Amino acid sequence: MNIQHNIQLQPYNSFRTKAVARLFCEPQTAEELSEIVKAYPGEKKLILGAGFNLFFTEDYDGLIIRPAMGGINILSETDSEVLLEAGAAEDWDTFVAYAVSKGFAGLENLSLIPGSVGASPVQNIGAYGTEAKDTVIRVNAVDIRTGERIIFTSEECGFSYRDSIFKRTCRYVITSVIFRLSKSFNYKEKYIDLSRELEGVPSPTLSQVREAIIRIRTRKLPDYTVLPNAGSFFKNPLLSKEEKEMLQHKLVDLPVYNAGDNMFKTSAAFLIEKAGYKGIRRGMVGTYEHHSLIIVNYGTDNGKEIADFMKEVQNGIYQQFGVMLEPEVWIF
Ligand code: EPU
Repeated sequence: MNIQHNIQLQPYNSFRTKAVARLFCEPQTAEELSEIVKAYPGEKKLILGAGFNLFFTEDYDGLIIRPAMGGINILSETDSEVLLEAGAAEDWDTFVAYAVSKGFAGLENLSLIPGSVGASPVQNIGAYGTEAKDTVIRVNAVDIRTGERIIFTSEECGFSYRDSIFKRTCRYVITSVIFRLSKSFNYKEKYIDLSRELEGVPSPTLSQVREAIIRIRTRKLPDYTVLPNAGSFFKNPLLSKEEKEMLQHKLVDLPVYNAGDNMFKTSAAFLIEKAGYKGIRRGMVGTYEHHSLIIVNYGTDNGKEIADFMKEVQNGIYQQFGVMLEPEVWIF
């Protein structure tokens, strides 16, 4: 059991904000993680993946757990399907690249999403009409309160848009994730941007889909090593029919997607842009010039500046359009 003291978290979050963790550990196995949890029963704990979806506004007076379980294994396969297990610390896109190279379909639309495998069910990561929940069939985890090892079925994960039981409770440290992937692939149109990018390609292969997504994302999203950021900063808002109609009076070209149950999703990026916040900058923080949903850090190490900018954008949009944007990013 290796516990470190007073660790600077700046390298461990993609916004590169400074904060010191009083205690910090990187367990290599589920057993080691269980032991640590049992050894520190009264300690406040925070699970940190690759740090692409959070930032710190103050020091962390507790124990940061950064799972370090690696490995990709084929658990079983038939002629049509394969069950793949990946350790929580595996880099997400390396895992997607591996699946695509083997001809295993289901993850290709999630290419180039930054982060770790362990974070994929927490956020139920999604892009281009696909979400993690479409292929995750089991999650292995450790209960942060008891050290007990727990297996979650897909239903027990309670997945919804950028949400899961892991995110709602912050109680389970994911150690590995099991995905069911298909050995055959037929491209289906799900997302207009992707179909446009694949125009002229008659029946795209898995690799062609992955490459197309990499091209779109590279064009639209800033490189966090150059401009630190955490991807989409806000969730796309869900609106009732009445809220949607009121908003359409103000914004006739509002993009609206049916979200079922008489609810509608609209584009946070569109609202931010219409409210005049695209590409603006306050001090060292701003919205990205090519995509308004991304908040970028131009050079501060103080998370409070990012949080203040977030509030300005939220309030401005609320005043103009009556919609309160909810952050997708976690703030500590
Ligand atoms: N748009 C604007 N202005 C902009 C950018 C976009 O008005 O500056 C509008 C356009 O109407 C565009 C629409 O927003 O058609 C949607 O844009 P985009 O396809 O980029 O999708 P998004 O809603 O901004 C979501 C995810 C992304 C994911 C993309 C692609 C959320 C919060 N974000 O973004 O996920 O990559 O779809 O599927 O759901 C992330 O979660 O970190 C992330 C990057």
